[in-house]
Amino acid sequence: MKHLVAPSILAADFANLQRDIEMINNSQADWIHVDIMDGVFVPNISFGFPVTSAVKKHALKPLDVHLMIVEPDRYLKNFKDAGASGITVHYEVCPNLHRTVQYIKELGCRAGVALNPHTPVAALDDIIGDLDMVLIMSVNPGFGGQRFIENTYKKLRDIKELSSRKNPNLFIEVDGGVDAHNINALIEAGANVFVAGSSVFSSPDPTAAIAGLKDPKPFPRS
Ligand code: DX5
Ligand code: ZN
Repeated sequence: MKHLVAPSILAADFANLQRDIEMINNSQADWIHVDIMDGVFVPNISFGFPVTSAVKKHALKPLDVHLMIVEPDRYLKNFKDAGASGITVHYEVCPNLHRTVQYIKELGCRAGVALNPHTPVAALDDIIGDLDMVLIMSVNPGFGGQRFIENTYKKLRDIKELSSRKNPNLFIEVDGGVDAHNINALIEAGANVFVAGSSVFSSPDPTAAIAGLKDPKPFPRS
């Protein structure tokens, strides 16, 4: 499968969201990544349902909603109603993960589970067959623009191996510090969906930055 690119609107200009959504609509991006932060699970607050619904109103691409919140079960239906096509919850806050995943699917959404940098891939061994997507955090969740954690390559190889055995159609998404320098190596390690915030929105030409991630050129390692 050709890899997918999901620009994260966390790095967009919130005073010009419609303009930035339209830029994504007219780009080669596949999904729009929507980062929800509650100030409890992560030390930052982003935005919630009204902003997600407003994004949906203009979006021509599926919303890939990443919930960095405690007790996500309480809000799954709200995010579905706000326009989510896929909902990803964090492993670290779901004591009844199997139930949560089934509920996301009952809502008609793609079900994803995110792993923080310290959470081993093996934690998903008994649920991988029920998942549509695994999101590997390559930074600690909470902020855009952080430095990529190198151990992510090992985790991607681990999840790729698990998915080849138990769920070959799994989306393997990597989130945090993705750019034109590391995307080839990340593809090689097994990722097939790429979230990119700062590398897209701090580029002088965000549309071209997205095109560069869709069709990456070999990048000489310095
Ligand atoms: C981090 C978020 C990411 C973030 C990525 O907590 O989950 O989606 O927007 O931003 P960059 O690409 O700037 O690391
Ligand atoms: Zn995210």
